[in-house]
Amino acid sequence: MHGPNLRLLGRREPDVYGTDTLDDVNRLLAEEASGLGCAVEFFQSNHEGELLDYIEDAAGRVDGFLVNPGAFTHTSVALRDAFLGVTRPFVEVHLSNTAGRESFRRRSFLSDVAAGVVFGFGVQSYVLGLRGLVSRIRQNRT
Ligand code: DQA
Repeated sequence: MHGPNLRLLGRREPDVYGTDTLDDVNRLLAEEASGLGCAVEFFQSNHEGELLDYIEDAAGRVDGFLVNPGAFTHTSVALRDAFLGVTRPFVEVHLSNTAGRESFRRRSFLSDVAAGVVFGFGVQSYVLGLRGLVSRIRQNRT
């Protein structure tokens, strides 16, 4: 699940976020998922309410969420509450190293309730996050 402004990937501050597009990220994740033997679906929105609706709807059919909440990471109690409400594990990912940027990016409303967090590895953050999420889901089953 991709939050606000992530559809601009590739064009948006390429020195910070790289030149891969959102389609490239999704393709990479689909490949990784197939190697891991699992299915993925994708959703992006610039609207907080749509992300909340998606979490609620998707929770019935998915085992977990891989999420780059974008700027909502630093502002959204509602996203935190949505994830707590659906009791599915989620992994928070960021392309950039949010700890090394402006101080407001150091606060996340999600990290402490996430199964894990990966940031700073560009598109590889998503791949590493997916591996962690799948491993957590499988661990929970045993
Ligand atoms: C981001 C980091 C956020 O602070 C920012 O608002 C984004 C992208 C990242 O992937 O590095 O939109 O989540």
